[in-house]
Amino acid sequence: MSQYTIAVLVGSLRRESFNRKLATALARLAPAEFTFKQLEIGDLPLYNQDDDAEQPAPAKRLKAEIEAAHGLLFVTPEYNRSIPGVLKNAIDHASRPYGDSAFAGKPAGVVGASIGAIGTAMAQQHLRNILAYLDVPTLGQPEAFIQAKEGLFDESGAIGPASREFLQGWMDRFVAWVKTHGGPKPTT
Ligand SMILES: Cc1cc2nc3c(=O)[nH]c(=O)nc-3n(C[C@H](O)[C@H](O)[C@H](O)COP(=O)(O)O)c2cc1C
Repeated sequence: MSQYTIAVLVGSLRRESFNRKLATALARLAPAEFTFKQLEIGDLPLYNQDDDAEQPAPAKRLKAEIEAAHGLLFVTPEYNRSIPGVLKNAIDHASRPYGDSAFAGKPAGVVGASIGAIGTAMAQQHLRNILAYLDVPTLGQPEAFIQAKEGLFDESGAIGPASREFLQGWMDRFVAWVKTHGGPKPTT
């Protein structure tokens, strides 16, 4: 059985982040052949093109982790109707220098949780725009705009009953998407 590694980018650094909890709970819905690794993006400096010739160590690490993955999972809140700066900063780092992006061809899924009912719809649309430019084939349907409310998670941290069937369906489609699009052979 093939093994698949998924690089997970969470767009919140908040300790009690709903999106981080969602990323952790989503991983539990995947088959055993899938491993999810949440990547550290909080230690990245602000992207500066002057450093392209010698990228900072956290950026090199991030790129290596993305390159080693078979697919990408973005789990992000919406900040002011777009993606949080911390996530954009990470994407900018990993996409550079020009011609040496870590992203090209990696299949991706996009999910987001917010306290608002339509939360993350605009952020996800902005993110899809960025991913299209980066040549990242991104799962189109189902869209997953998750409202962070009581009962989203059960006591064990798993997805609660109200959203479990929907998110299991989302995960099944994501797994098939990664298998179909495969992505370039991981470099490590
Ligand atoms: C700077 C900032 C901007 C925000 N803008 C939005 C927004 O545009 N839409 C929305 O639904 N929620 C917005 N929120 C509320 C977030 O959905 C909420 O803080 C959420 O818990 C963040 O996700 P996290 O729990 O993973 O950190 C905003 C929060 C912050 C801190």
